[in-house]
Amino acid sequence: MTQTASRKILITSALPYANGPIHLGHLVEYIQTDIWSRFQKMRGNECYYVCADDAHGTPIMLRAQAEGITPEELIARVSEEHQRDFAGFNIAFDHYHSTHSPENRHFASYIYEQLKAKGHISRKTITQFYDPEKQMFLPDRFIKGTCPKCKAEDQYGDNCEVCGATYSPTELLNPKSAVSGATPVEKETDHLFFELDHFGDMLKEWTHKGHLQTQIANKLDEWFESGLRGWDISRDAPYFGFEIPGEKDKFFYVWLDAPVGYMASFKAFCDKTGVNFDDFWKKDSDAELYHFIGKDIIYFHALFWPAMLSGADFRTPNAIFAHGFLTVDGQKMSKSRGTFIMAKTYLDHLNPEYLRYYFAAKLNSRIDDLDLNLEDFVQRVNSDLVGKVVNIASRCAGFVVKKFDGKLADNLSDNAKTLYQSFVAESEMIASLYEKREYGQAMREIMALADRANEYIDETAPWVLAKQEGKEAELHESVSVGINLFRVLLTYLAPVLPETAEKALGFLQLNTLDWNAIESPLIGHTIQKFQPLMTRVEMDAVEKMIDDSKQNMPAAQAQAAPATVNSDIDPIAPEITFDDFAKLDFRIAKIVNAEAVPEADKLLKLTLDIGLEQRQVFAGIKSAYQPEELVGKLTVMVANLAPRKMRFGMSEGMVLAAGPGGKDLFILNPDEGAQPGMRVK
Ligand code: 2FM
Ligand code: ZN
Repeated sequence: MTQTASRKILITSALPYANGPIHLGHLVEYIQTDIWSRFQKMRGNECYYVCADDAHGTPIMLRAQAEGITPEELIARVSEEHQRDFAGFNIAFDHYHSTHSPENRHFASYIYEQLKAKGHISRKTITQFYDPEKQMFLPDRFIKGTCPKCKAEDQYGDNCEVCGATYSPTELLNPKSAVSGATPVEKETDHLFFELDHFGDMLKEWTHKGHLQTQIANKLDEWFESGLRGWDISRDAPYFGFEIPGEKDKFFYVWLDAPVGYMASFKAFCDKTGVNFDDFWKKDSDAELYHFIGKDIIYFHALFWPAMLSGADFRTPNAIFAHGFLTVDGQKMSKSRGTFIMAKTYLDHLNPEYLRYYFAAKLNSRIDDLDLNLEDFVQRVNSDLVGKVVNIASRCAGFVVKKFDGKLADNLSDNAKTLYQSFVAESEMIASLYEKREYGQAMREIMALADRANEYIDETAPWVLAKQEGKEAELHESVSVGINLFRVLLTYLAPVLPETAEKALGFLQLNTLDWNAIESPLIGHTIQKFQPLMTRVEMDAVEKMIDDSKQNMPAAQAQAAPATVNSDIDPIAPEITFDDFAKLDFRIAKIVNAEAVPEADKLLKLTLDIGLEQRQVFAGIKSAYQPEELVGKLTVMVANLAPRKMRFGMSEGMVLAAGPGGKDLFILNPDEGAQPGMRVK
């Protein structure tokens, strides 16, 4: 077995946005990266795996506003949820940080100032849509209107989901702000641009020096042909992010400081542990740097990021490893089918090791999409992990414990040694498959070994030997070899199945699963009573998970399901039954009095006449109406809601006013047909 000198390796996964939950699409990437990181560590390399929440940008700012909390509160909560979910899948980051951190502010500002000092930043006046009510410039995704090409309604400002056309928001017909519903106006503003074309030669060379997968390098050539344009790196206030040094009310665009978050997270890790930051990031560093990402964000990682690093005199990545998206049963993840599965929902029903293995079995080094076929998932986990691997230990351990006091044989025959060595001889081949991220191939090789181990047990038939007189030595060798082969297999599988490997260490009474520790078999070693390491997956549990996903799924994420999803629409609440709904008593109510609540920005105190009685209700509609405008109007209220004590008094019901918010919250005008007290059905 060859022992190469230890390498210094820093690995990252893309930073998930801090406004939505982790789902199985995300996990394709985190599991893939975690396997690689664990593998590198087992090989004795000095390897660190860092990540962070991507905490800036308009969607996060607006989501916090919608929830009535500060962005800081939102990102703190989401960070906890993300870390809980990652831990649930045994993703072992060395450090998990946030882009909203002092380290990130430092490096983002530093890189910007370096680029500026070297003449790579320019200022241009652009015209952008502005929401006159919300008083903010609108990102393309926050403008909706009619597609200029196919006339489909309700399309985003940058592309049409019906005909696929791309356009600029100003070409949309009948544009509306998705934030307030107002008609946006065009307004001029100065923006800062990173002059990517200054790095044209450097990037053309870099993208063809083996840092990228071939499919990606080819894709980038198309971009080079159409010319590198300046990258708009500033956004106007209000914006949740870092203010740009030397500018007023201008903030770094979220994508400027997101990849810098890799550095920031590693810096925080170095400050905590004493690892030398510069060793990994200085220009002539001999450490290796790898970014695992989804194929949708290649542009940022393979062009902007190397250019930023090189312009600021840092080292560039050794490689960008891009992967495809997740499909479930051959289709995009879908709410209605219950296949848009949150990490948490999965963990409520199934063992994380199953999914880690299944993904590993289907991953390769290319950017193809990966399909989670639920029947195949159940079948493969049961047949490979439970039926082949765990079964080896369960077939042998009982005899070792019962017949030999838990002790493995003191010596092995030449045949047994040869068999053992044939398993160890595959070590470098399997390692090189992990190294190349050909995990699927690695799993096939390991399962072929598991088949051989089971064949050996079938041939030596310990259950037969156990019943025969004078066959103790043969029995002892058979089950000792079985346990030793199991140990080799578990070592090979440990990057994929860390929890199972950990349990196996306990049962095998070992301290380490280092890659090279398998060189010699366990001789005369005592093991413990076998505990089941993994149970079979039941289709029933998979079905329950799908059912739960139908109920829990946020509506905004119902359609497209790339590995990374930035959700910006409030989730639909959990489904209720018709009986739940029938309990609600909606009444037409006449607003007989309305007054502002001075201590609350959004609330009006309403007195409502519902025919039988009058109710006092606090309603959050101050942004839409002056109190006096409301008197005499009708609204619909939930009349049988339990009274709620608020800071300003009792609220005896709930007013229903629909609309996008701001000024657009709709109340009914008096109408001859509607009388206070009428039940709405
Ligand atoms: O696409 C996304 O989900 C981004 N939040 C990824 C950022 S990766 C890195 F650049 F920070
Ligand atoms: Zn269209």
